[in-house]
Amino acid sequence: MCGIVGYVGYRDALGIVVDALRRMEYRGYDSAGVAILGGSGALAVERKAGRLANLEAELAESGNERFAGTTGMGHTRWATHGAPTDRNAHPHRDVTEKVAVVHNGIIENFAPLRKELEQAGVELRSDTDTEVAVHLVGLAYAAGPTAGDFVASALSVLRRLEGAFTLVFTHADHPGMIIAARRSTPLVVGVGVDEMFIASDVTAFIEHTREAVELGQDQAVVITANSYAVTDFDGNAVDGKTRPFTIDWDLAAAEKGGHDYFMLKEIEEQPAGVADTLIGHFTVDERGGRIVLDEQRLAEQELREFDKVFVVACGSSYHAGLLAKYAIEHWTRLPVEVELASEFRYRDPVLDRSTLVVAISQSGETADTLEAVRHAKDQKARVLAICNTNGAQIPRESDAVLYTRTGPEIGVASTKAFLAQVTANFLVGLALAQARGTKYPDEVAREFAELEAMPKLVARVLETGPQVRAIARELAHVPTVLFLGRHVGYPVALEGALKLKELAYMHAEGFAAGELKHGPIALIEDGLPVIVVMPSPKGRAVLHSKLLSNIREIQARGARTIVIAEEGDDTVRPFADDLIEIPSAPTLFQPLLSTVPLQIFAAEVAQARGYDVDKPRNLAKSVTVE
Ligand code: F6R
Repeated sequence: MCGIVGYVGYRDALGIVVDALRRMEYRGYDSAGVAILGGSGALAVERKAGRLANLEAELAESGNERFAGTTGMGHTRWATHGAPTDRNAHPHRDVTEKVAVVHNGIIENFAPLRKELEQAGVELRSDTDTEVAVHLVGLAYAAGPTAGDFVASALSVLRRLEGAFTLVFTHADHPGMIIAARRSTPLVVGVGVDEMFIASDVTAFIEHTREAVELGQDQAVVITANSYAVTDFDGNAVDGKTRPFTIDWDLAAAEKGGHDYFMLKEIEEQPAGVADTLIGHFTVDERGGRIVLDEQRLAEQELREFDKVFVVACGSSYHAGLLAKYAIEHWTRLPVEVELASEFRYRDPVLDRSTLVVAISQSGETADTLEAVRHAKDQKARVLAICNTNGAQIPRESDAVLYTRTGPEIGVASTKAFLAQVTANFLVGLALAQARGTKYPDEVAREFAELEAMPKLVARVLETGPQVRAIARELAHVPTVLFLGRHVGYPVALEGALKLKELAYMHAEGFAAGELKHGPIALIEDGLPVIVVMPSPKGRAVLHSKLLSNIREIQARGARTIVIAEEGDDTVRPFADDLIEIPSAPTLFQPLLSTVPLQIFAAEVAQARGYDVDKPRNLAKSVTVE
């Protein structure tokens, strides 16, 4: 939540900062702002409520001359404290107007700090928690033991802050230098030639450099055009504790590539995302085929001795977690509980050394999931992260990691990351099954081969796009859509409903079909669209026949049935007002196919209703506050 960027170099900082904000706007789009330091020591600030386009219009109107300079920073906001107005937009300045700050996260002790500032006669000009930080730095720089020392002043304030934050400070008397710091929220340094970047996310500077350094917890960095120096909040150098890495994708991955929206591009990238997530995870050795994880700090012995598994995640990642349960329990006979990360630690779950906690997060930053990981580790459980963001906080704090290699996901709604997470869950299940001996190596090899066949099938499901979009346009103005599924089709139904809610702002609910008669069937009325995910007729016959009965029941009560079923499943045809056919796949893997039409459906309904599918209202891509 909130995207921040800083630049020190030799080029026009404004252009670089605004471009970076455009790439990071998915992190928040309530307001945007920039601060540029001219060589003469002038600090030029502009900020505007609403989308980045509003700020750009304002900058164009006021003329860019004021913003000539080679040091600058910017912010795109998802509001926490204070409404999304001009006055609450970042950057904020101190009373001297020489120090500026941008912030991502929450300063939890802002209330006493605000009181302290008010008592010292400082007049605060916004409703944000952020503003206290800039005034405190201004005061520390003006007088006292750190007077005149910008770095020492900033560090002295960082030591006083509680909460989760990435903060970036500039000072008009110190052009050519930026100070940034992080606790729990992300911060990456981009190392260029005669220029340096800092940002929440590498997409901000991928155009200029692919060399990056990930900062650790409670670290600060001072960047100049030619250097970056990382310390702890006491100013001690932390050489060796940062993580330099080379970004292994390029600018094209962070651009729309001819699509109107990132989300549409990301839906199409799903076959590649599933395939890439599988690459390198299967080797043949003397014991036969074996699954390998990315960063494995769990001993084989531990994998054998776990007696239960918890999966924790939020939103779509939670739905991926619900699907993990079916595969892991089936393959390993280990009990699996799936829990919303936001609920997990508040109910005192039973965890110990023999518990494996699987934390699923596309961003690797989600505050609730991170706190769930920390809680699990406090209780001595072992944690395996499934993550799409190299080196993010959740994988850093976990004992083992499996990366979903689907490239940056920029559309706010999860699509390709979801499919890649589901794929990664299968790898975790197979790794556990092989370690525990509940599957022979040749069985693991067979499952893996079936998985490897899935990307081609996902590509075939994309061909249903025109049909799905036509149905979506017809239904674009109905008030409600229901989604039904059984077994693995149930989490798919939940995911379909979530996509429609978040993108089209339409009432949508997903149900386990067996629950219909326990209440939800009362919702069925003439013409109500119900999207049904049919299980494979080649899987358990009972599941298929039960769902068929459910479709009959709702059709008899007037529902319009839109059925996603396997090709050749003719039994369902008479009960489907619309039939969307997907290729046949093993039961557990079917969600990799059945989810795709639901993503396309939600995106099309949203577009037909005139909404921006990349930036749904009130949302942001990374939820770094609880
Ligand atoms: C929905 C969506 C969200 C995320 C959730 C978790 O389309 O994208 O529900 O799945 O916010 O985010 P991560 O996976 O980054 O922890």
